[in-house]
Amino acid sequence: MLPQEIIATKRDGGVLERAAIEAFIQGALDGSFKDYQISALLMAIVLRGMSPEETVDLTRTMLNSGERIRFPEIERAKVDKHSTGGVGDKVSLILTPLAVACGLCVPMISGRGLGHTGGTLDKLEAIPGFRTDLTNSAYKEQVRNIHQAIVSQTDQMVPADRLLYALRDVTATVESIPLITASILSKKLAEGIDALVLDVKVGKGAFMQTLPQARELAHSLVSVCQLLGNPASALITRMDQPLGRCVGNAVEVAEAIACLRGQGPDDLMEVTFALGAEMLRLGGLVKSASEARKRLQAAIADGSAMTAMRSLIEAQAGNPEVLDAPEKLPQARFSRPIYPPKTAIGATIHRADADKIGQAARLLGAGRAFAGAELDLAAGITDLAKIGETLRENQPMGILHFNTESAGVEAAYSRLLAAYGWSTESVIRKPLVIERVDS
Ligand code: URA
Repeated sequence: MLPQEIIATKRDGGVLERAAIEAFIQGALDGSFKDYQISALLMAIVLRGMSPEETVDLTRTMLNSGERIRFPEIERAKVDKHSTGGVGDKVSLILTPLAVACGLCVPMISGRGLGHTGGTLDKLEAIPGFRTDLTNSAYKEQVRNIHQAIVSQTDQMVPADRLLYALRDVTATVESIPLITASILSKKLAEGIDALVLDVKVGKGAFMQTLPQARELAHSLVSVCQLLGNPASALITRMDQPLGRCVGNAVEVAEAIACLRGQGPDDLMEVTFALGAEMLRLGGLVKSASEARKRLQAAIADGSAMTAMRSLIEAQAGNPEVLDAPEKLPQARFSRPIYPPKTAIGATIHRADADKIGQAARLLGAGRAFAGAELDLAAGITDLAKIGETLRENQPMGILHFNTESAGVEAAYSRLLAAYGWSTESVIRKPLVIERVDS
């Protein structure tokens, strides 16, 4: 099958047969399809879309491009969670050990942050010594031993996605529901999971800015995952303001540890428990959301979630002392509180834009402007004020943490101030979980 025939079919709005999709992926991997041909087909897919059957075929073909891990010897249900990315989203750090403490196996393969959103791997690497680059065999052994891991994708897993994503990144072809679906699911299903819970974020700090877009992505992810034989559900969750009060790497690890100790901020725990309940339900451990919530709360109260976090850190060569002494995490040399202007004292916060706060953290060094850029793991923002709170004198709206006094700090200061809006009118807090999608 000639590449130009496959491209022309999609260009003209036709449906690609499974054989054409397989030829495309095979050709991309063995070099017989050139980058310009792959890019042309990707753009045709962006413009013409794909049917659910085509998306299933693309996902399956990408999944089969590398090693698909399986854990038949592990009796526990293997359930993972994926978030489409947000600001202050440290849920995976809390939920992985928490779900394991409740009886699941969570063999998580995760990613790095780019732009104003953070990445789970970057955050974990703020723990001194913590390794995320395990070999396939070390990853499998760890999952067999302690029923959990949070690692980066290995070279053997889903090479088709690595190749396609690199081209999509530089050809403006990331924004396509079928391509995003195939990319996310091929990587998650390569972990050998039994079920998947998706957190599709919507709002100013998210990839999907509107509810219809988020719904379309959630339905696509859930239905394709189910058609490939894996139970799945998605929660569409609000990402207008950051989750929790900390944005950065070390500062988010410290906040996640506080959550495991039962001292987490309400919004972060609300999303963690909602996703955790979905995981326990899909894993067959509970019958109802209320039973799940009790179980999750008990695992925090009795310390078993913290114990599971300790084994995760130890298994991946991190220093577990950070759990009792968060000051052993990287600390920034300088900090600077940001106070509300005098005219705002007594007003209620009605806006705390996640995108701007994420950009402020990036300007301090906590995030990447381009793929591969180095991070300052100690940099970030803590003590963020939340929507619905009243601004008070001497109470910061956030504290910037940074290692070098630079123009970036001034820019971060202005960006954080610009993120906030207030008024004298009261603000009704909207629930974070907007809806659940299960087909
Ligand atoms: N995340 C992914 O892994 N793939 C995409 O295509 C978009 C976001």
